Amino acid sequence: MTRNALIFASFILVFTFACAPGPGAGKSKDVKTPHKKALGKKGKDKGRLLIGVYECLSCHSLNGQGAKDGVCLDNLDRSREFLIEHILDPETHVERNPKSYGNQPNVMPSYQLSRKEAADIADYLIALRREKHAAKKTRDK
Ligand code: HEC
Repeated sequence: MTRNALIFASFILVFTFACAPGPGAGKSKDVKTPHKKALGKKGKDKGRLLIGVYECLSCHSLNGQGAKDGVCLDNLDRSREFLIEHILDPETHVERNPKSYGNQPNVMPSYQLSRKEAADIADYLIALRREKHAAKKTRDK
């Protein structure tokens, strides 16, 4: 072997080791889709974004935005479970609770959401209701 070939060979060796994936490679913590990042960490933040993604405000109003004549979602006096059930399967929910909907047939489409997604939306709506109540209390003082 010539001297040059030796130097070349040692370079290859060094690079092979330097670039070889170390322990923990493949479990990278930085690989997050932008979508996941945008959704934030808290469930209710995801819920807020999902309402935008699914264009719920084409029928509903929320925080003064969206359809003016739609059912307002700001201040729903409903339990968490009630909201989740409605968001998951509006048709069945309206059928089972006719009085809660003035005996009107269901209009809202079903979005095939996961229970987690529906719960995130419900948590956002409940957080919003709490905010409104807190704001009202301060005003009334
Ligand atoms: C096509 C119009 C339309 C769209 C789009 C729509 N909704 Fe509705 N939503 C309604 C109507 C009308 C009702 C009243 C009951 C029914 O028809 O299901 C309702 C009821 C609700 C209720 C229950 C309110 C209560 O007091 O019981 C919730 C919660 C709700 N919608 C959330 C959403 C969310 C979240 C989305 C988006 C994922 C959405 N809606 C999209 C029309 C719509």
